[in-house]
Amino acid sequence: MNSNAEMDFIKINLESESYKIFFGKDYIENSANYIREFTKTNKIAIITDENTANLYLNKISRSLLESKYEVIHIILKSGEKIKNISSVENVINTLLKKRFERDDLIIGLGGGVIGDLAGFIASIIHRGVNFINFPTTLLAQVDSSIGGKTGVNTKYGKNLIGSFKQPLAVFSDTSSLSTLPVREIKAGYSELVKHALIKDNELFMWLCENWNVIFNQEEEIIKAIKWSSNIKATLVQEDVRERGSRALLNLGHTYAHAIESLLKYDGTILHGEAVSVGIILAYKTSYLLGYSKKDELNKIIEHFNDVGLITDLRKFNKDNIDSDMLLNAMNNDKKVKSGQKTFIIPEGIGKAFISNKINDEIIKSIVDTALAS
Ligand code: GLY
Repeated sequence: MNSNAEMDFIKINLESESYKIFFGKDYIENSANYIREFTKTNKIAIITDENTANLYLNKISRSLLESKYEVIHIILKSGEKIKNISSVENVINTLLKKRFERDDLIIGLGGGVIGDLAGFIASIIHRGVNFINFPTTLLAQVDSSIGGKTGVNTKYGKNLIGSFKQPLAVFSDTSSLSTLPVREIKAGYSELVKHALIKDNELFMWLCENWNVIFNQEEEIIKAIKWSSNIKATLVQEDVRERGSRALLNLGHTYAHAIESLLKYDGTILHGEAVSVGIILAYKTSYLLGYSKKDELNKIIEHFNDVGLITDLRKFNKDNIDSDMLLNAMNNDKKVKSGQKTFIIPEGIGKAFISNKINDEIIKSIVDTALAS
């Protein structure tokens, strides 16, 4: 067994549920060696999706089976569309039929959708069972696997049903990034850069200089993931249940969730793509309100364009997005407080604040301008 001392990790320090996020190359292949210290059970359910299963399910299972674990495979269709309550019910029924018990372990193997769904199931089956996450996408490694948010979408909006469920550990196997389509890498990068924009101007400058190297070299991408993850870890530790400062992590997300909801999670956009457009709209809001300068807004648009991130809302417009529809979808956002929408407003680069006082007319004018050709 590898001792933690030899392993690369960051720690999420929480009162009763601290855990480590490990970064390395062989966690999937040698899974049994790594999870052994976290569980006494010999029954493990792996929840994954078809794409991830094709690449990694045999690898992770071989290690577990060789170590005499009994392994249940749950393979869901890939994409955001399966992140709903009926998938939750189906998976739970399958597990119960296979006599999955309270001390058994759920492993999530996949991207953000799988992590959110598997974590949610782990939080409610038998009133909560042990959960370990193996995120395999950049978005999941840098954002969704950190901090214990779980959930599913409803027809009213994104992640409206969910829970906080901290895992026992997260194993970010960075070798999985080499098989990730460039589109997925870019989608994950938008969450990574988001952390820089809300807290760390130096990280943003470093990303602008080095993004090309980061996209092509494993060592640099691990540096970027860890730097960005540390920012998120700090905010999670300060405010694990998002009663205050953790909400800063939602920069661009009020716009993004509304866009995704209007497109009905139809698979045409990735969450990270909606986030990159949402961040640009948040900066336009900030500029209009006088909290960011034109050259800061332009710098971010320029960086996103260099990387190939989506910056233009019209890219998604299939006659089903206009300002009234977006405002209406935002009313179902779970961050609405006393009927007021919550926005994260950047103040230049590396700083942001939370506001419930942004007038609908301002949002309408931002969106109308963004949609005008
Ligand atoms: N993705 C935002 C958060 O975890 O709080």
